[in-house]
Amino acid sequence: MGTDKESRISYFDSLNQRSPIIIRKCTLDDLEGVIEVNERELPEDYPYFFYKSILDNYPESFLVATTDDGKVVGYIMWRVEKTPAPDSLRFYNKGHLVSIAVLKELRRKGIATALLSNSMETIKKYKIHEYVLEVRVSNYGAINLYQKFNYTTHSIKKRYYRDGENAYYMTKPA
Ligand SMILES: CC(C)(COP(=O)(O)OP(=O)(O)OC[C@H]1O[C@@H](n2cnc3c(N)ncnc32)[C@H](O)[C@@H]1OP(=O)(O)O)[C@@H](O)C(=O)NCCC(=O)NCCS
Repeated sequence: MGTDKESRISYFDSLNQRSPIIIRKCTLDDLEGVIEVNERELPEDYPYFFYKSILDNYPESFLVATTDDGKVVGYIMWRVEKTPAPDSLRFYNKGHLVSIAVLKELRRKGIATALLSNSMETIKKYKIHEYVLEVRVSNYGAINLYQKFNYTTHSIKKRYYRDGENAYYMTKPA
């Protein structure tokens, strides 16, 4: 997906009609829809300014999935973090997957796959060396998804989530 292009996938709806899903960069107008998906699908909520700052700073890799009429049904957002390289005194950039979610009623149709593959391409514009993410140890669906993209478990972050659940810290070279 180029900077301003969108890509499309499609799925068969309940009437067996082929329905398009558009994958494109998030805009300011989409943020309300993104927040709605997040609040419905994930226990981790963020304030509006958090989404806005991700959009302002990393617009290339903040993508939404929408229906034909513009309703946001999924999103993915990343940020870039500078960290010391493990084997030298230099710093390098990590692409950190902040959040991804797809509405329950539209899952297992390849939407997260399209969001992840497109955004992993575009986040390279920020010159990252590694993709990293945290995922609840109980979140088998998401873990499966990341493994399909060849992420591997680097370590466990104890009590990473507010409710005390551990996270797998998964990484992949960029
Ligand atoms: C995780 C999530 C984003 C996946 O979205 P999706 O659009 O359904 O994913 P896809 O259709 O692209 O699935 C791709 C692959 O991921 C794996 N996968 C996805 N959901 C799965 C599930 N519930 N159980 C097992 N494997 C699953 C499968 O390997 C799947 O391929 P398949 O359908 O051919 O078997 C979605 O379930 C979701 O929004 N969950 C709530 C939010 C969340 O947990 N986010 C991740 C936080 S780290």
